[in-house]
Amino acid sequence: MHVKVIAGNSSPILSKRIAKELNIPLAKVTYGKFPDGELYVRVEDRVDKAIVVQSIRCSDDIVYLMLLFDVIKEAIAVIPYMGYARQDRAFNEGEAVSIRALAEFLESRAEKVISVNLHSREAASHFKNLIEVDAMPLIGEFYKKEKSKGTESLIMVSPDIGSLERVKVAAKIAGCEYDYLEKVRIDAENVEIKPKNVEVEGKKVVIVDDIISTGGTIAKAAETLKAKVEAACVHAVLASNALNKLFSAGVKKVISTDTIEQPVSKISVAKLLANAISNIYSTL
Ligand code: R5P
Repeated sequence: MHVKVIAGNSSPILSKRIAKELNIPLAKVTYGKFPDGELYVRVEDRVDKAIVVQSIRCSDDIVYLMLLFDVIKEAIAVIPYMGYARQDRAFNEGEAVSIRALAEFLESRAEKVISVNLHSREAASHFKNLIEVDAMPLIGEFYKKEKSKGTESLIMVSPDIGSLERVKVAAKIAGCEYDYLEKVRIDAENVEIKPKNVEVEGKKVVIVDDIISTGGTIAKAAETLKAKVEAACVHAVLASNALNKLFSAGVKKVISTDTIEQPVSKISVAKLLANAISNIYSTL
């Protein structure tokens, strides 16, 4: 039986880390694009059972998965970042529930789907066979180490009430205080954050969120807090020049996990995902 890890085009580094953790070889795969934009996949090794690791950042990532599943008949799908999860309901009549469509596709092809911090309970509810792992403890561990190096006390701030539960998990492990702000989303790129008195004097402030997409949320939160802040997230989508926006708003440092491979990915979810995979295939 040839069990291999297939590194999706979007997750080459994380796939290698997971393969190392599991001590399973990586399959040789070629990804290509024809001049007209059509995508191409070739799996060059024999693979009877695959662990396909592919974050979904954009539509091409879904097409690559679709082509991989045409070759690989038996697979578990590891989707470290599940894009399309923010459209978890029809906000207006006639809208597609994007994550529902994606869940149906993934579950029709993979025997199990594993992902990291889906955006909402609503998004997760569209899956029947999902294993969701939580990377917030890893952010907590990261700041526990940082805290031990410095003298400043630390406070983690959630930019909205929706992320508060996640932030509590990280803060508990880091052994620090936490608070939250109140956010109102105006549109995809703009948010408003209500003024609120958060005690930040003399503290290192870390704004923690599940996703940094355009950076609008964190930039506004940093302006509201009027303090030297850092930002930490699980999924660093970093669309529309987000890092630039964050640094211009005075954010000193940005860190994330490697669910999306970015220059700021300082924390790896490889062990977390390898454990979830091992629990499924305990005989690997
Ligand atoms: C929204 O509810 C999420 O938790 C994030 O706050 C949001 O996706 C961040 O988006 P952006 O960086 O574009 O403000």
